[in-house]
Amino acid sequence: MSADDDKKAAARRALEWVKPGMRLGLGTGSTAEKFVAALGDKVAQGLDVVCVPTSERTAAQAAALSIPLTTLEDTPQLDLTVDGADEVDGALRLIKGGGGALLREKIVAAASTSMLVIADGSKLVDRLGKFPLPVEVVPFGLGATRILVGRALSDCGIDGAPVILRTDTEGAPFVTDGGHYILDCACEAIPDAEALADALVAIPGVVEHGLFLGLCDTVVIGAGGETRVLTA
Ligand code: 5RP
Repeated sequence: MSADDDKKAAARRALEWVKPGMRLGLGTGSTAEKFVAALGDKVAQGLDVVCVPTSERTAAQAAALSIPLTTLEDTPQLDLTVDGADEVDGALRLIKGGGGALLREKIVAAASTSMLVIADGSKLVDRLGKFPLPVEVVPFGLGATRILVGRALSDCGIDGAPVILRTDTEGAPFVTDGGHYILDCACEAIPDAEALADALVAIPGVVEHGLFLGLCDTVVIGAGGETRVLTA
């Protein structure tokens, strides 16, 4: 079984949490994409749901599958968001943003009663931080913000971590759906995720960071052809 099969198994299992009439948040990334595909099949069979996508990419996929879409302006409260993650620890704390959609993902997750994460087994970690932590920043003042992000990391016991501006395939800064840049922080390990989250949001140029703390209540892991469920 490949990681792709495991992602697909987790995505299919997540359909068990979807009930008729639900207002759903749709995540972003290769795992979320598999959930959207599976949801599209159910919608084609008559399932009645309405969804808020977390990226332009997911919006395009869902629209192509004729999944009914709405916005948080028209539907400000959602029942369930299904999304992937880059890391999940034992307390269901997450690192997200590898796909660059962390800001909309966090807004949509926060608007949802429940957040269900789907992932292959490689995403489960003992301690957060091996995956570089994405921090979304405004382009203005980038140089200064980058120094302040490095200082926040040091203040939280993460010394000398490279803070790298994410670039696209042409070497230009990667631009998020919100028009921002991303700094990837190679922490290796995050000793106190809550303290780091607080320190990052206090920096004026930081729009959002990829630590999702206290948002996810259920995780479905696909591994070796099976799925297992972790709950908070
Ligand atoms: C996008 C994300 C993704 O959910 C995360 O990067 C996981 O992606 P994948 O399912 O492709 O491994 O946070 O911003």
